[in-house]
Amino acid sequence: MTSPPVLAEDLTKSFGSRRGITGVSLVVEQGQVFGFLGPNGAGKSTTIRCLLGLYRPTSGRVRTLGRDPTHGAAGYLREVGYLPGELRLPEALTGADVFARFGRMRGAADTAYRDELVERLGVETDRPIRSLSKGNKQKVGIVLALMHRPRLLVLDEPTSGLDPLQQDEFATLVREHAADGGTVLLSSHDLDEVQRVAGRVAIIREGRIVADDTVTALRADAPDTMELTFDHDVDAGPLTELAGITVLASGPRRITLTYTGPAAPVLAVVARLAPESLTAHPADLDELFRRLYDDAPTPGGRP
Ligand SMILES: Nc1ncnc2c1ncn2[C@@H]1O[C@H](COP(=O)(O)OP(=O)(O)OP(=O)(O)O)[C@@H](O)[C@H]1O
Ligand SMILES: [Mg+2]
Repeated sequence: MTSPPVLAEDLTKSFGSRRGITGVSLVVEQGQVFGFLGPNGAGKSTTIRCLLGLYRPTSGRVRTLGRDPTHGAAGYLREVGYLPGELRLPEALTGADVFARFGRMRGAADTAYRDELVERLGVETDRPIRSLSKGNKQKVGIVLALMHRPRLLVLDEPTSGLDPLQQDEFATLVREHAADGGTVLLSSHDLDEVQRVAGRVAIIREGRIVADDTVTALRADAPDTMELTFDHDVDAGPLTELAGITVLASGPRRITLTYTGPAAPVLAVVARLAPESLTAHPADLDELFRRLYDDAPTPGGRP
């Protein structure tokens, strides 16, 4: 069996006595868009650097495109497109200069795709990098990561600084890349950004993976939301006694709650309160995400 494009087994990286990441295992399959989520300092960039051979892990095993990245990274880096979290570009050069330089380094001949990317993202190619806004610099970085059509894209917080329109275009580019058989690993703290494009999501917290599943499965575990309004004063008390229900907010004539599991028992209690209107939202990962961010990680890795 061939190795998946990204394989990390029990990866630990410490910086002296400082925690980097602890026992991180990840598998990204070919053609997958894999979202890597976690709060600031959780260990996303550290994991990514280990995967690319930029950090040598303290222990554990890494295979990137089937190879050990700590040995001879140069060759296969042509097959990887990397957008670092802390993008540094030669400030005096223009976007066009940078593209030409990187193109030569990688021996990339396909300038048509590069030009298409420039066009679609609206990159300013004729001004020195130093004069570009944050978002426009980031777009240069995105083109650099994608322009040689790498088999594996590793993007560390790719949409930071992009306006909503460019975020849409970026999401389309990522989906196209995966549809063509490419593989994408994308880190973010923004759940919405990730759930738009990723089929699978891992959440890292304080250096450890606390969830790793398909977006569909995570959603199935996540609570649905219900909003109720009343034309009379009500007491949310009876609802709070039901297992699986959390009352998020309640006023005299309004209740917002989340619930997991079947709706029928919830509706039975709700009906007795005689609401004037009811709105239900299907599970979104927000609530789950917040729980995973806030709570201590549970043993076994699943919430
Ligand atoms: N070169 C380094 N030297 C010392 N500590 C480091 C180094 N790189 C990372 N760390 C530590 O490792 C931990 C994880 O950091 P990392 O940059 O991987 O987090 P992150 O999830 O990418 O956060 P952010 O969302 O802020 O980018 C932090 O505690 C950080 O201080
Ligand atoms: Mg980072």
